[in-house]
Amino acid sequence: MEKVKFGIIGFGNMGSNHANSFIENKITNGMLTAVADNDIKKIESAKQKLGGNITYFNSADELISSGLTDAVIVATPHYSHCGISINALNRGLNVICEKPAGVYTKQVEEMNNAAAKAKGLFTVMFCLRANSLYKKVSEIVSGGGVGEIKRVNWLITDWYRPQSYYNSSTWRATWKGEGGGVLLNQCPHQIDLLIWITGMVPKKVRAFCRFGKWHDIEVEDDVTAYFEYENGASGVFVTSTADSPGTNRLEILGTKGKVVCEKGQITYYKLKQDEREFNKEFKGFMGEPAYDIIPVEHDGKNPLHAAIINNFANAVKGAEPLFIDGREGYKSVQLLNAMLLSSWLDKTVKIPFDDDLYLSMLEERIRRSEKTN
Ligand SMILES: NC(=O)c1ccc[n+]([C@@H]2O[C@H](COP(=O)([O-])OP(=O)(O)OC[C@H]3O[C@@H](n4cnc5c(N)ncnc54)[C@H](O)[C@@H]3O)[C@@H](O)[C@H]2O)c1
Repeated sequence: MEKVKFGIIGFGNMGSNHANSFIENKITNGMLTAVADNDIKKIESAKQKLGGNITYFNSADELISSGLTDAVIVATPHYSHCGISINALNRGLNVICEKPAGVYTKQVEEMNNAAAKAKGLFTVMFCLRANSLYKKVSEIVSGGGVGEIKRVNWLITDWYRPQSYYNSSTWRATWKGEGGGVLLNQCPHQIDLLIWITGMVPKKVRAFCRFGKWHDIEVEDDVTAYFEYENGASGVFVTSTADSPGTNRLEILGTKGKVVCEKGQITYYKLKQDEREFNKEFKGFMGEPAYDIIPVEHDGKNPLHAAIINNFANAVKGAEPLFIDGREGYKSVQLLNAMLLSSWLDKTVKIPFDDDLYLSMLEERIRRSEKTN
């Protein structure tokens, strides 16, 4: 089978990481044919790393219109994801867009409209969906293992970032360059997983984002959010880039049990009787449903980005279904935006919220910014 020809747009940390997947022969049905970056130094380092069999471009547009690729991986800073992806989709290319799908809902909506009309495939790099840990949690929850969801909690504070990380690029941790902090950069993964695993987006959000609380940055580096869902479930999401040692604990509790995911392990608490039924039937003074604790095996594999690129190449070839429809990226951007909006307005925000209001408040922060980028 002829391999899918890939171009990487943006040869920074992530773009060069994606190139590794090709040079280490991890992509069975894909080959790297082109790289674009608008920074000449990045092109020089790409040439050193990848050599002469690749064509190099100084702009995304040149690569997209070159005819040298069937697919592109967009690995530029977040604001440019949608514009570059739309350009590539409109020219008939298949597109893998890095996370987050975009910075704000209005631009992601435009990208989704382009994807709906495009002949090429479209996905977003939600590589943690390929992690065996979260695949297993998703299987348990979507298979009804916890029953009707009542509560979700994710304490994800093991994203420690020192000040030097924020100082490493001018676009990082600014309203203009990134449009947010820990939510927009690190947490698109967990928010996507939460939506994917539960199959639900909260209808109400009250969040407390603290901006530059622990670092010399203008965007959020500490967040506590409360969610309310249509079915009555509630959720708490806590994140920070300054906790050390941090924690990563996901807990999903429903009427039939609970699944806890921490330190690479899953524990499944399976009630012997649905809690709602027990509550109706039990006549004693004090009591609680009995349960079994079931250790859950998983293969420990976390193939990350290469898994998404492999699936994408195979899907382009028609050899397997596309794992993630890129249009799902909208939901996580919407929830991330809702958390910021709730903090800015200092009140509970209903989803869907007013996208124009969100954009105007973001633009206001860009105008007032004292950071130079
Ligand atoms: N999926 C993941 O696990 C993961 C991990 C890290 C980063 N990312 C995402 O990857 C993206 C890039 O992050 P990074 O850490 O590699 O940043 P980076 O700053 O290291 O690299 C970005 C590169 O894009 C280039 N660039 C910027 N605008 C461009 C344009 N219009 N056309 C062509 N090139 C352009 C820059 O010169 C730079 O080389 C971000 O959106 C980030 O969220 C995803």
